[in-house]
Amino acid sequence: MTPKGRVFSGARPTGRQHLGNYLGAIQNYVALQDEYECIYCIVDLHALTTLESTEDLRQNSVEMALDWLAAGIRPEETIMFIQSQVPEVTELHTILSMVTPLGKLTDLPTFKEKVRQQPHNVNYGLVGYPVLMTADIVLYKANLVPVGVDQAPHLEFAREVVRSFNYRFKTNVLIEPEMISTEYPKVIGIDGVQKMSKSLNNHIELAATPAETRQKVMQMVTDPQRKRRSDPGRPEVCNVFSFHKVFSTPQQVQEIDRECRIAGIGCVDCKKILVENLNRHLEPFRHRRAELSRDPQFVLDVLQNGKERAALIARQTMAEVRDAVGLP
Ligand code: TYM
Repeated sequence: MTPKGRVFSGARPTGRQHLGNYLGAIQNYVALQDEYECIYCIVDLHALTTLESTEDLRQNSVEMALDWLAAGIRPEETIMFIQSQVPEVTELHTILSMVTPLGKLTDLPTFKEKVRQQPHNVNYGLVGYPVLMTADIVLYKANLVPVGVDQAPHLEFAREVVRSFNYRFKTNVLIEPEMISTEYPKVIGIDGVQKMSKSLNNHIELAATPAETRQKVMQMVTDPQRKRRSDPGRPEVCNVFSFHKVFSTPQQVQEIDRECRIAGIGCVDCKKILVENLNRHLEPFRHRRAELSRDPQFVLDVLQNGKERAALIARQTMAEVRDAVGLP
């Protein structure tokens, strides 16, 4: 382990990543590589809890891996792998479930939300989702977990499970992880209200073409009180403005802030500036992604290599866990 420690994070293979994943998580994944040993995981088993069909699962994992690589994940140092390829995590999930009170799981806001979203499919795996997530983190002995704020209840839960396990088995084999977020922990979708998410179809993909990006931005909901061009706007409640703060220059942000308030600039022109800046910002990413896609074997090799390196750590931890629990 490096002196500073180990980072672990995961994301469900939902295919091409969107600006929410990028600003909430991937940017941090990339930056943390400079100081920590990093492990990034494509959590396909977690994806099974919500999928109706698994037809695109493999392809979606590859698309996501391409996005990570294009965004700057360096596979020579960082381990990038697919969760189900290191099956020790399922064994640890079972063991951790024995120190997890059921009521804690069903009380989690994330579980309640899923029950609302898919009342026809409240499966056993869905209840245990946070236990599997805890198993991910502790199997690789990570001390830092970069995620968006939507994952905060899961992280707090993971810390409790670690404490229960270590107490019950009088050990310190498992490490209590800490969460870290970016400056943009919750990115709102183009509807201007809900968290950006593929399932809500309110997202903008990183790998979208400039024309697709333009189309999405032009659809973005702005300040709902600004009905006419001549109405003054309120940048502080406008989602377009929150993207300007990330992708536009400080001078442009200042100007838009001032002009919007006096109706000096309309929403259409404001969006056009954002489109230009967003496309400029994403151009190197898109170029690199196109290059990587030309060699499909490369990403498969990266995932294979990641699997082998991850498995070494997983086997070691499981030997310690079995010993602590008293399993033969
Ligand atoms: P998932 O697949 O929903 O999302 C992946 C990452 O993207 C972040 N994110 C966002 N951040 C800000 N604004 C948004 N609109 C937005 N949408 C997504 C998420 O916070 C997350 O960091 N349970 C996890 C996956 C997981 C995991 C783990 C994470 C499984 N095991 C172990 C860390 C460690 C999830 O569903 O992420």
